[in-house]
Amino acid sequence: MAFSMNFLLSSIFIPVITPLFLLVLIFLYIYNKLQTNKHHPIGGTVFNMFINFKRLHHYMTDIAAKHKTFRMISPLHGEIYTTDPAIVEYILKTNFENYGKGTYTHSWLGDFLGDGIFTVDGDKWREQRKLSSHEFSTKNLRDFSGVTFRKNAIKVGNIFSEAANSNQVVDINDLFMKATADSIFKVAFGIDLDNLSGSNEEGVRFSRAFDDSNELTYNRLVDISWKIKKYLNIGSEAELRKNLNMVDEFVYKVIQIKSEQMNKSKDDFSVTKKDILSRFMQMENRPPKYFRDIIMNYVLAGKDPIAATMTWFLYMLCKHPEVQDKVAKDIKEATNMKEETTNVADFEARVSEDALDKMQYLQAALAETIRLYPALPLDPKICFSDDVLPDGCMVKKGDMISYLPYAMGRMKFIWGDDALDFKPERWLDDNGCFRSESPFKFTAFQAGPRTCLGREFAYRQMKIFSSILLGCFMFKLSNANEDPKYRTTLNIQLDGPLNIYVSARSGLHNP
Ligand code: HEM
Repeated sequence: MAFSMNFLLSSIFIPVITPLFLLVLIFLYIYNKLQTNKHHPIGGTVFNMFINFKRLHHYMTDIAAKHKTFRMISPLHGEIYTTDPAIVEYILKTNFENYGKGTYTHSWLGDFLGDGIFTVDGDKWREQRKLSSHEFSTKNLRDFSGVTFRKNAIKVGNIFSEAANSNQVVDINDLFMKATADSIFKVAFGIDLDNLSGSNEEGVRFSRAFDDSNELTYNRLVDISWKIKKYLNIGSEAELRKNLNMVDEFVYKVIQIKSEQMNKSKDDFSVTKKDILSRFMQMENRPPKYFRDIIMNYVLAGKDPIAATMTWFLYMLCKHPEVQDKVAKDIKEATNMKEETTNVADFEARVSEDALDKMQYLQAALAETIRLYPALPLDPKICFSDDVLPDGCMVKKGDMISYLPYAMGRMKFIWGDDALDFKPERWLDDNGCFRSESPFKFTAFQAGPRTCLGREFAYRQMKIFSSILLGCFMFKLSNANEDPKYRTTLNIQLDGPLNIYVSARSGLHNP
């Protein structure tokens, strides 16, 4: 009898009953948790995101149309995505200290962006923010950047002028990527990259390697095996390393040239104080890697968002010729230009600061483009300690919570039933003056203490380019049925060429 009891205990109780008992305990624990803590609905898994990577922002927008805020199941950590302005305000402003880049974002973006302003928190962030915001507020930067933008807009205008004369199409995606790279290199680092003329082969190679590194880095967001691949140096991670080596080679050369220039002309204001990099390089005891990271972050901030916005802007104006006409009319009135001209240099001379301020419809059309195609379509933050969001749901320490500017721009509950329509008028008041929106609703430039530092700089560059180009030319898609896709990178770049026909502006599409 004793033998059979022992046998029963060891053969049934221990292997069968114990796991069952443990399962019941786990079930009760989870059940209890779910009862006491409210969680957001599940929208899918990171595996679904991986499968839908090429159309990620459409995929997330479709889920957001059903749930303002939702979870995507991931084996790494909790992932929450939101389009709710109340939650955006809470994480970006009200409880700012509890949400940041964290070690997760730093490890994900670190190889590409190092310890630059986009990847760090705390004192490292405060130091760069302080110096950068001072730079952005100076008249010196405003004047210097204005001259650079105008020069580059004239170069682009001359390319359009040639295309109009020879009836050739122009790939504006490529053109704006080159133009904005030239602008940011000149303004931020004092370097003539000259991608527009293609004379600087190293510069062209750098730009290509930079764009590929950007895309391969973004891929890490949904590729849970990236760390293993990196360790083994295989696949996408081997590709990323190769591109980053090319990028670094170029950037370290820029730092060396800048440092030599600064040593040679210590008292020459034009060399030492004009550009942002020179100001950073006056800080003592910083290794070259510190400046490498500053450069990488500024290239990312200053090149891609503006190029992407300008490309989507002209695309939308081609799709909506009546809006293109209204923008051109606004520019003509503000510059007081009665006759037609394709002489871009002449037209540029009419685009005074005062005229730029008067172009309210142009400003509205740019904002409307950014609403539908926000340069940063998805922006993740890491939660530093357990918290409860304004909708009463839990967020745990280490969870990733991202707000979705792309999806938010398309939500009817935010913009009304015409959310998907391209309607610059929604940004104008009764007097036709531009009216800004709450940054927690129009999140394209982020909000709170880490709001975009380059917002005014970006609008100015885009207004200067647009006014000169639309003042002189009319644009038409080479393929009217063109339905361009985006590249899923940190920024919402258009994938592949966008070819357009350019002609001299002679009246309106719809007189
Ligand atoms: C259409 C153009 C632009 C858009 C839509 C845009 C959007 C944004 C967004 C969403 C962020 C927050 C990123 C994050 O979470 O880390 C940001 C940050 C920033 N932006 Fe922009 N940006 C634009 C142009 C620019 C330009 C031209 C510059 C400078 C040349 C610039 C400089 C910065 C900087 C320095 C930050 C970091 C702020 C911080 O973390 O404190 N941006 N921008």
